[in-house]
Amino acid sequence: MSESGAAALAAEVARVVRLASPGVQGLASYDPGHDIVALRHKAGEQGLLELGGNESAWGPSLLALAALRSELDTLELYPDPRGGVLKHALAEAFGLQREQVMLGNGTHELLMQIAQVFAGPERSVLVSRYCFAVYPLAAQAANARLDVVEALPPTHPTQPRGHDIDGMIAALRPDTGLVMLANPNNPTGTWLTTTEIERLLQAAGPETLVVLDEAYGEFLTQPDCGSALTLLAKYRNLLVTRTFSKLHGLAALRVGALLAAPGVVAVLERIRESFNVNSPGLAAATAALMDEAHIATVLHETAGNREALAIELKARGYFVHPSQTNFLLVDFGNAEAASSVDRGLMARDIVVRPMRGYGLPQCLRITVGKVEQNARLLKALDALRAEGKA
Ligand SMILES: Cc1ncc(COP(=O)(O)O)c(C=O)c1O
Repeated sequence: MSESGAAALAAEVARVVRLASPGVQGLASYDPGHDIVALRHKAGEQGLLELGGNESAWGPSLLALAALRSELDTLELYPDPRGGVLKHALAEAFGLQREQVMLGNGTHELLMQIAQVFAGPERSVLVSRYCFAVYPLAAQAANARLDVVEALPPTHPTQPRGHDIDGMIAALRPDTGLVMLANPNNPTGTWLTTTEIERLLQAAGPETLVVLDEAYGEFLTQPDCGSALTLLAKYRNLLVTRTFSKLHGLAALRVGALLAAPGVVAVLERIRESFNVNSPGLAAATAALMDEAHIATVLHETAGNREALAIELKARGYFVHPSQTNFLLVDFGNAEAASSVDRGLMARDIVVRPMRGYGLPQCLRITVGKVEQNARLLKALDALRAEGKA
């Protein structure tokens, strides 16, 4: 856009934003990081190595692809507005009733809707300092106050910069409407035990809803940790979200799920857009859930490659946060160093995720790739080190 065009747009936005709700007036839209499409066009022969979005290097299940293709002959028809087949599959997989399942156009949509419905001027939102960027956005869009609890210190022996559950419990207020946290967490990769989650749910009480975002839940294999799905029968204030964008490699199709008490789902359904999940997405997600072999492969490869990559990065002197996800948060010591690595990698057609927007300018978040992808990353890093740029 030309300079004069940009100035005209800014003036128009300033005029129109006064008409928006107070929360939206101060809101900056979600920052997706680097412009991937532009970088793909610019990339050289090797192609762009995309390690910024926590997508799956292993792609989707072949069964999911076949199911998707079978939908292509009927694109003129609306998708099933109830998402019946996928809801049934999810309920079966998680041992829940179908009334406990709601589908979203990605988890992002569900998180925004949850805040829209259950947060507001009199129902504040509680989060941890290094939480997923959508939570503050959802709170603000809902005109809710955001209470941010300091994270554990970077020197914490097992969960550096992780959620401080005691701090979160202490920060609960009578007007806390919603607690939003991810387990394991993005961007830190850290995790919570089931006991910690239960303590939070108990302290929150029935009027404060607790959203456990399990976008990376399948990758969590630590002892004493498990999915909060097992707690749904006991806590009616618990909302669990899952996505098909990470483990299942279906990020492009935008399918997410909410698992909660039937009453919570029924209330949220009131504002769901009627055809929010498309037919290829519904079909592929249902098939992906059934492909146990693909799931096992991705989990196994991700965990192995993550630990191998962490060892290599630590050997080069960087601080690597322990992770139970498909990415690593790497601390380069200061903002300048992280930015130099980011720029240097980009010059070699490798994209990672800068963390300035998360208040961690000294860090970069790196998605775990296949062996050869991680090797390319390390080779680029070594070249930068040889040039004094990393
Ligand atoms: C913690 C967390 N929750 C939710 C999402 C959004 O997932 P979806 O693709 O389902 O919108 C992400 C995506 O990166 C995430 O990291």
